[in-house]
Amino acid sequence: MTMREMRPGIYSVGSQDWDRRLFDELIPLPDGTSYNAYLVIGEKTALIDTVDPTKEHELVATLKSLNVKVDYVISHHAEQDHSGSIPAVLSLYPDALVVTNERCRSMLEDLLHISPERFLVVSEGESISLGGKTLTFFMWPWVHWPETMVTYLAEDRILFSCDLFGSHIATSDLFVTDEPRVYESAKRYYAEIMMPFRLKVRVHLTKTKALSPDLIAPSHGPIHANPKFIIDAYQDWVADDVKNEVILAFVSMHGSTRAMVDYLIGALMKRGITVKPFNLTQTDIGELAMNLVDAATVLIATPTVLAGPHPAAVYAAYLANALRPKVKYLSVIGSYGWGGKTLEILKGMVPNLKVELLEPVIIKGHPREADFTLLDNLADEIERKHRELGLL
Ligand code: FEO
Repeated sequence: MTMREMRPGIYSVGSQDWDRRLFDELIPLPDGTSYNAYLVIGEKTALIDTVDPTKEHELVATLKSLNVKVDYVISHHAEQDHSGSIPAVLSLYPDALVVTNERCRSMLEDLLHISPERFLVVSEGESISLGGKTLTFFMWPWVHWPETMVTYLAEDRILFSCDLFGSHIATSDLFVTDEPRVYESAKRYYAEIMMPFRLKVRVHLTKTKALSPDLIAPSHGPIHANPKFIIDAYQDWVADDVKNEVILAFVSMHGSTRAMVDYLIGALMKRGITVKPFNLTQTDIGELAMNLVDAATVLIATPTVLAGPHPAAVYAAYLANALRPKVKYLSVIGSYGWGGKTLEILKGMVPNLKVELLEPVIIKGHPREADFTLLDNLADEIERKHRELGLL
């Protein structure tokens, strides 16, 4: 790892994880990730977050190489990618205190068995002066977990934003230089981590704008020296507006559902609707999640297997329900051989989605002309709905 100065007396001391390809045993990481930690040095010294336990040796080596004594370890979030090396830092500095909120303190005690006397609990708006550098803490829950908080360094106008505004990228860039690349990664990150809490994130976004930070330093990915870039992107993602897009998540076993999918793609294209098909046997779920951010309509296409939807379709429905995208319309298409409850099962799996269910097209066997007409009707209905929203 490399220690780099962001501003006078403020250093990035986190780690890049170039090789990691899965996060939380759930989220694909095509570009690796970073665990950002920051050192703020005044008369006293604060370490803002630590690193994943797999990189603990790097952080410890960096801290040992410096002629500083850490007085405070600010813990924004109890998740182990940021908190996991706190015990090692506390061992290195026996007088250091972990500064966090009450809820995070409780979680850190549970997860890392940190002793109660090592904590300094802060609440909304409280500050700590390091001497020439003042850290103010704001409780911003659900920028992943319920205990999350952020820190604002007023003298340098830096918002240390926890997971908010992050991106899973391992990069040698300290600051964002390649905005299109970071946009893609930040959107994927937003979809996976922030989208379930969109309305809360919207409130935090308003607070961020009020602070008007000069730098936004998130817990993952490069630092935003142009905060407007990421603030504008988030503004778009958290807004209620949707785009003229249909996400078509599909799986087919013997080609019948696939024939329906292919026909429907063409029917939607003819009507001027952007359609994004995702073959669930191949797709990266992060890619699917990212595309759920803006779409007006989601379609699930599945055969019936063992009397219900294909497990890949079940996973997609579960994922969409958990991520709570702002999608407006939903439908199901697919083929069955002799019966089953595919539609009922899928409908029951998405209670979180505030959607209107458009007429499903569940057919027997390989599609016939009459079935293609039903798909045309569905495409017509999607077109009508998108027009009503002013998307066409
Ligand atoms: Fe980066 Fe929610 O931890």
